[in-house]
Amino acid sequence: MRVAVIGSGHVGLVTGACLAENGHQVICVDNDKKKIDSLKKGGLTFYEPGLPEMVLRNCRKKRLDFSTDTGYAVKFADIIFISVGTPLGKWGGADLSQIRRVSKEIALNLNNRYKIIAEKSTVPVGTAAEIERILKLYAPKNADFDIVSNPEFLQEGSAIKTTLEADRIVIGTQSPKAEAIMRRLYARFRSKILVTDFKSAELIKHASNSFLALKISYINSLANICERSGANIKMVAQGLGMDKRINPYFLNAGIGYGGFCLPKDIAAFIHISEKLGFDFGILKAVQKVNDYQRDLIVRKIKKAIGSNLKKKTIAVWGLAFKPNTDDVRESQAIHIIQKLLLERAYVKAFDPKAIRESSHLLPHVHYAVDMYEAANKCDCLFIATEWDEFKKASLDRLKKIMRRPVIIDGRNIFDPAEMKKLGFEYYSIGR
Ligand code: UGA
Repeated sequence: MRVAVIGSGHVGLVTGACLAENGHQVICVDNDKKKIDSLKKGGLTFYEPGLPEMVLRNCRKKRLDFSTDTGYAVKFADIIFISVGTPLGKWGGADLSQIRRVSKEIALNLNNRYKIIAEKSTVPVGTAAEIERILKLYAPKNADFDIVSNPEFLQEGSAIKTTLEADRIVIGTQSPKAEAIMRRLYARFRSKILVTDFKSAELIKHASNSFLALKISYINSLANICERSGANIKMVAQGLGMDKRINPYFLNAGIGYGGFCLPKDIAAFIHISEKLGFDFGILKAVQKVNDYQRDLIVRKIKKAIGSNLKKKTIAVWGLAFKPNTDDVRESQAIHIIQKLLLERAYVKAFDPKAIRESSHLLPHVHYAVDMYEAANKCDCLFIATEWDEFKKASLDRLKKIMRRPVIIDGRNIFDPAEMKKLGFEYYSIGR
């Protein structure tokens, strides 16, 4: 099938590459010429395991191409995905200006061949109706199209697997013709398909991300109870997760959730709920717990090395919002480092992939070449991201190079008993 993907960011590029991998003819569009030129040569602007190879492979087989020309892509395709950004606006809701602009561009380039316009970006409920309004306003009278809401559920760092083997593909449409075409598009994906109306499809996305955040804030709240009562959060999580109704996933206590999606989507969901006349109080509490975790880390550091952080050297392992990505947007690590810098601490940080991205946000941090250089002569080490590399660190070497063997483990990657045996002063979350 002939597919256009408008917006070649993380979601658009992964969608385009995975569809091409399944034999479809795909053009990915972006208005950033530099990005498109670089993609044509196989260069990605972000780190995602396996994606560069997949892009190159499909470009070589002439199933994947890149362009800055939306009009050309719209005319070429049978299915047009909208996967542009929906950042948070200053008013607290999702900024749909890119969606509106692209919808108008699509409308102006529609011809009389039937097309599907599929909304892939994360949007508040009701956006598909707004896209339809714009399309009807600007499209030629004889334009024949259907709108489908087809939200994305990929996880950064494992984007290919979570796309090709997504737990579900949600197709929001009331058109049997559009449904049949979308089913054909995804025929080779190993996922269950759920067909809904488009408002429900839009809501499923916000509801899913909010629920994941809810699980994280719940387990982090429990971790705080564990710390006060002497219980162990890992065991509590294990016991919880053995109940099939709860399941064991997203029950890792830590410094809280970050990234470009969860924080923004929860805020946007609260905002749209308010607009619809409902105060989504639970989600406000989720946000509050997540903020609390940042302060908790600073308090733990102060408790361990003294409340005056001026001239103290703090090593930070991990800057990305989670492992296997270079994405530092809304990373809890970045927020916590900002707090430490405000207290005049000297911060030495290392991340296997995210240093370049962090250096724009935190120019006053010393970026180390590896995890040991970061920890060298530090007063304490804060572990912010659970990269595998950190889990395999030589603890003997680490202990020798630190000024004081104090570790604040924000991701519970080591065993407290073993750390104590090795002579570390080790503090983690909920244990
Ligand atoms: C999230 C959703 O998981 C995807 O399903 C969704 O498609 C995506 O947002 C999106 O809207 O595009 P992602 O942002 O890649 O995916 O990150 P997650 O894997 O959900 O992790 C989010 C944050 O939660 C990370 O900071 C992670 O460290 C934290 N987390 C996760 C925990 O603190 N504890 C856990 O048990 C799990």
